[in-house]
Amino acid sequence: MKDKLLYEGKAKQVFTVADNPELLVLSYKNDATAFNGVKKAQFQGKGRYNNLISAKVFEYLHQHGINSHFKEALNETEQLVEKTTIIPLEVVIRNVAAGSIVRRIGVEEKRIFNPPVIELFYKDDDLGDPLINDQHALLLSDSTPEDLKKIKAMALQVNEQLQAFFKEINLQLVDFKLEFGRNAAGEIVLSDEVSPDTCRLWDIATGEKMDKDVFREDLGDLVTVYDNILSRLEAKQ
Ligand code: C5P
Repeated sequence: MKDKLLYEGKAKQVFTVADNPELLVLSYKNDATAFNGVKKAQFQGKGRYNNLISAKVFEYLHQHGINSHFKEALNETEQLVEKTTIIPLEVVIRNVAAGSIVRRIGVEEKRIFNPPVIELFYKDDDLGDPLINDQHALLLSDSTPEDLKKIKAMALQVNEQLQAFFKEINLQLVDFKLEFGRNAAGEIVLSDEVSPDTCRLWDIATGEKMDKDVFREDLGDLVTVYDNILSRLEAKQ
């Protein structure tokens, strides 16, 4: 099925699909990076966890009316997706204060945001993914104001669905990052991945961090934490 390596990112490889230019294969790597690639490590099995967890998230979102690039998990580390032109924005939704917003504007960690805070970052490694405003986003992403409105509305809809999804497995969705792309029909669809690499998840009972902060902050064994999330998701069905 997979053909040529098209692109290699920090966490995934992207392959073309033989005889179908409208599809791609995403192959999840075991690499973990943080602080814009400054901190790096490899974890045996991490690619498998992110592939399987992200697949479950996209399946749930699909069942709840959210269009994404996801087609199906092909095996333990790879998934088939619709080819999209990536919109170079990282859309972060925050329900609770944590991470960069605490450092940037001095809000107290754990403060609840109601309504959730939406932030846009420009996806550019050389610039260190800077925080941008809506006008910057329009300039940099070849999007119309209607596109941007749609992207934010979709991100908030995803937030509603994901909060319920993770609550069922006793996890609080603190914040997360989404990416969007345009498919061959020109529709804006959710793309990339949704996994504990891209979300902050806190155990509702204990407050324990159960996401990539375990690696960022050297809090314990990342693989054990990701295994725990997948087990909870598997037990839910
Ligand atoms: O670092 P910060 O607090 O801005 O991250 C907000 C959320 O976005 C976190 O859940 C983090 O894991 C995610 N994120 C990401 N990829 C990035 C930056 C942030 O998945 N490049």
